[in-house]
Amino acid sequence: MPVSELDSIVYVSSAVRLLSLEEISYLLKRARERNKEYGITGVLLYIGGNFMQYIEGPKDNLDIIYKIIREDGQHKGLIPISREAIESRQFGDWSMAYQTRDVEGYVGSPGERKLIDLILETPSDNPSAARIVLHSFWDRGGS
Ligand SMILES: Cc1cc2nc3c(=O)[nH]c(=O)nc-3n(C[C@H](O)[C@H](O)[C@H](O)COP(=O)(O)O)c2cc1C
Repeated sequence: MPVSELDSIVYVSSAVRLLSLEEISYLLKRARERNKEYGITGVLLYIGGNFMQYIEGPKDNLDIIYKIIREDGQHKGLIPISREAIESRQFGDWSMAYQTRDVEGYVGSPGERKLIDLILETPSDNPSAARIVLHSFWDRGGS
């Protein structure tokens, strides 16, 4: 059986308006349902009205999900940061991990914080451009 090629995408975008907790919960619920169905995993950050998302999965399915995401009217100004083939998943256990923070600092459990630290960790020898941009986005609080 052919092994599907795994691809990964990172993008940033802005919410069209500040989304309520209920709206985010619904978005996540729908995203997780569909991602499970399509074998997509990843993480979504929501900071000060901006999104940063990392998604990974079989190339064809990733295209389908990315199209759904791009066409969602709840956000605008989507900027693709990277699209790279990957050897293995970084978020295999998460149909869509979620993290948010406000000006007071992190909202969420220490476990969630570890998760974010994980993706912000840059390999010392060859940091990918996506991670650098991601890191500065995170440092600036998404503004
Ligand atoms: C920032 C952002 C991230 C999203 N991520 C995903 C995702 O990972 N997977 C997915 O299937 N849909 C994703 N969506 C789409 C929404 O989950 C969903 O389509 C939307 O809430 C409308 O729900 P509906 O599909 O029931 O109309 C995303 C939307 C936005 C704005």
